[in-house]
Amino acid sequence: MKTSICEGLVARDKEVIAPCQHLSYYPLVVEKAQGAVITDADGNEFIDFLASASSLNLGSSNPILTKAIQEQLTKLTQYTACYTYNQPMIEYAERLTSAFPGGVKAKIAFGNCGSDANDAAVKFARAYTGRQKIIVFINGYHGNTYGSSTMTTCSTRMHEKMGPFLPEIYAFPFFGVDQADDVVEKTCVQQLEQAFASYLPASEVAAVVIEPVQGDGGILPAHPIFMKKLYELCKANGILFFSEEVQQGFYRTGKFFAIENYGIVPDGIVMGKSIGASLTLGGFMARAEIMDCLPAPAHLFTLGGNSIACASGIAQFDYLQSDEFQAHLKNNIALLEELAADLKAKHPKVVGFTRNLGFSMGIGITKEDGTHDNDGVFKVLYRSYELGLLVISLAGYILRIQPPLIIEPEQLKKGFAILDQAMTDYENGKISDDVLKFRAGW
Ligand SMILES: Cc1ncc(COP(=O)(O)O)c(C=O)c1O
Repeated sequence: MKTSICEGLVARDKEVIAPCQHLSYYPLVVEKAQGAVITDADGNEFIDFLASASSLNLGSSNPILTKAIQEQLTKLTQYTACYTYNQPMIEYAERLTSAFPGGVKAKIAFGNCGSDANDAAVKFARAYTGRQKIIVFINGYHGNTYGSSTMTTCSTRMHEKMGPFLPEIYAFPFFGVDQADDVVEKTCVQQLEQAFASYLPASEVAAVVIEPVQGDGGILPAHPIFMKKLYELCKANGILFFSEEVQQGFYRTGKFFAIENYGIVPDGIVMGKSIGASLTLGGFMARAEIMDCLPAPAHLFTLGGNSIACASGIAQFDYLQSDEFQAHLKNNIALLEELAADLKAKHPKVVGFTRNLGFSMGIGITKEDGTHDNDGVFKVLYRSYELGLLVISLAGYILRIQPPLIIEPEQLKKGFAILDQAMTDYENGKISDDVLKFRAGW
């Protein structure tokens, strides 16, 4: 595999880009990307199991989105919505609010990314309830603005040296599907209840912000019993329940919003990544009376809700409703589960577990005694890269499997064949410890 051009570019990057901007696993310089195939600057091709961190649910350079972007470009690139109005923004808002679970009358505030959408959640929750405290969950990822990084609890590197952070953000344990039903039933809201009874008056809590599937925390779907009990606790105490859908929204989990898998109607939804249908956009939507509680300019951005991203979003939204897409997604989810089960059966000493909600999957790489194999996961993903698959790890030992939803079944199979080969090489001691020097990711 020739990587000299990529390596040269990475060396130049290091001279001018702050190191905090890359969590790199290998020197992959993306030159071209089409659907679920990425080509690097040396001409190597990779099947895409990352979908640009779940921000390209319809894949790279999707012709449906490219057409919408081109058409909008010829009319209007952007003109700030702070002082004017534009049709793509209105029409996209109409579509997104129509998708709010439970037929709730909702309004939206657009921003630039998932991080500022989380900031919006805090602002609106505080303003609407008149309460200040916000509850989040340990190992959650919410972004990198000051507000959203305060809410993030999955990496000390996002907190060290930069404090003080936003006050009144409290993190509690998250209960995932990796926990036994009876344990969840007995303990999942115990710490919250203790806190409410001792130092954290529930009457001062504005909102709970929760990822229905913890993403960067390790693709861990919330346990349904936990979600139900948490929701009931919120309702009993006048606490708003916000679903954080930045990574899992837009059919990543098989439903438009991940929270729909739990049968819960939230008070608000935090969006980012694929909301922009390949461009930069973020949004927070909630019940109309919540969104009506802040006057301008309490939450607006010069380029927030820009016309091109909204035009692309409209085209994406309409395609997502089509029978063609829905049938493709259903088949892909079934195939993903089958391929993952086969992989686990073939490599019981390497694959500790697979867990997924729809097309969002984590594959735990463990040692024979069940402990996390952090070196092993890196060796497997590095060999996969050498064999032509882009896949990364999360939480130190979990392979992140989030291909574009439109990936072709043959490409999905090819990606799993590469994982199979990489695991075989790892089991046979064919991946040298030398590769570990490249590790700089999560
Ligand atoms: C769940 C979740 N929330 C928020 C964010 C922040 O989004 P952005 O990086 O677009 O600001 C991310 C990004 O990875 C995310 O996964």
